[in-house]
Amino acid sequence: MHLNMNSPSHSLFGRQSQSERLGRLPMCHLLLALLLATPAFAVQGAPAATGISGAWRIDLPKPSGVTLHTVIILHQEGNNVEGKAFPNSSGELTIQDAHAEGADTVFKIDWGWIFRVRPEGDSLRVAITYGSGARDEVLAVRVPEDSLRFPVVLPLPAVRDLAENGLARTPPMGWNSWNHFAESVDDRIVRETADALVRSGMADAGYVFVNIDDGWEGGRDAWGNIVPNRKFPDMKALADYVHAKGLKLGLYTSPGPVTCGGYEGSYGHEEQDAKTFTNWGVDFLKYDSCSARNLYPCSQMRAVFQKMGEALGRCGRPMVFSLCPCGPEVWAWGPAVAGNLWRTAGDIQDNWKRMSEIGFDQGRLAPYAGPGHWNDPDMLEVGNGGMSATEYKTHMSLWCMLAAPLIAGNDIRTMSAETRDILTNREVIAVDQDVLGRQGTRLFARNGVEVWGKPLNGGGLALALFDRGEAQATASFSWADAGLPGKPSSVRDLWRHSNVTPADEGLNVAVPAHGVVMLLAK
Ligand code: GLA
Repeated sequence: MHLNMNSPSHSLFGRQSQSERLGRLPMCHLLLALLLATPAFAVQGAPAATGISGAWRIDLPKPSGVTLHTVIILHQEGNNVEGKAFPNSSGELTIQDAHAEGADTVFKIDWGWIFRVRPEGDSLRVAITYGSGARDEVLAVRVPEDSLRFPVVLPLPAVRDLAENGLARTPPMGWNSWNHFAESVDDRIVRETADALVRSGMADAGYVFVNIDDGWEGGRDAWGNIVPNRKFPDMKALADYVHAKGLKLGLYTSPGPVTCGGYEGSYGHEEQDAKTFTNWGVDFLKYDSCSARNLYPCSQMRAVFQKMGEALGRCGRPMVFSLCPCGPEVWAWGPAVAGNLWRTAGDIQDNWKRMSEIGFDQGRLAPYAGPGHWNDPDMLEVGNGGMSATEYKTHMSLWCMLAAPLIAGNDIRTMSAETRDILTNREVIAVDQDVLGRQGTRLFARNGVEVWGKPLNGGGLALALFDRGEAQATASFSWADAGLPGKPSSVRDLWRHSNVTPADEGLNVAVPAHGVVMLLAK
């Protein structure tokens, strides 16, 4: 193990009743102990199983060759089962809706995972059904509760303002593997996506970053260098391939010991990993707090992210720094850690409800966006199949009005012409990429239509008329309502690619249900 551990070991369970224990457990430490101190699990010394109560470690081998660990801690009293789960060794979640089904106990956790467990000898048979419908079934081993040790919490740098890195003068554009491929991303998919970005015209439209999200990590070599798993045989060669296409390569890691997917993180190796990424030729780093939240409170995330910001600053290669921290006011300190973009919401999903609840809530953060530093409401879902073309146009328009990073999250290799046309609408993209870098805001809502405005360089105004309702609505407003001094000399419809001849008084436009009309007034 590459991290120092505190010694001696600490007993996690004192003399309290089991339910008191669950309430008082230093769960974050337990999580890390389970992650980092695997050799400390003297399973042979474990007490014999007497049902499902206890701490259980579930090892899940992945096709990448990496084994992920999930821990569950259960306490059964009669029919009542309580407990905690540490899915993929990241995050502590309370188990919910535990109930008996025959000989099985069934419960779920917030991630949408459903567990079905039953004792089997000294082990616990566990079947996990994930939100996607995929299923794993394994035997979990009982973990001795008194042999777990805590990792050292490493010191953080004193908070200071780092210099800007000068990158991302307009919102970054590219592609990321997570929304479509999740952990199944591999070298071949990345190469084929780079090819498809060029072939489809996406690269010409500005999508230059090819970002590999979670699931590439293999572990560390004898010198502590992070290495890819077997899905990525040669990261440097992959970067060369992407660069040869005129594109840039992005990678994902975490300041915690493990990423949100349970893979190797950069904890204690920030400097070393920044150098490795530099040697590989990485141009974009997505840095996701994940298990760092179990070591440091969210109030210390600025220092946690500063550590990597400093390491990247020293490595001598321009690398866009994309932050996924936790805690309030991330937007207030993101630029001070040399961050170029920061997540402002939890994970997007490919459905109208989630996309719109994230997107339409972003207007309040407009003061924090500007050249070099952007609010990031998460990556695009356009083309992933869960929304209609009308809804994807709304998604794309809203992200452009928000001056959001445009990171496509679909399968570029097989996308339809309709998806390509939405993603490559240059008139809409120009609103996002406007050099003034002002994020749009909601001007007003009336008659079921939200009217958003984004001031553009040179005095133009982008207007997006959104109908979030279930029936067609009519946007009707005066030029003064939109903050304009009078009738603009030109109004262009950015989805129809045609000029509009508006009335002297203002606009009166039909907007389809869940749809948008996007205009450029000059
Ligand atoms: C978090 C992030 C996602 C993705 C996953 C990978 O959930 O918000 O965008 O990076 O981690 O595990």
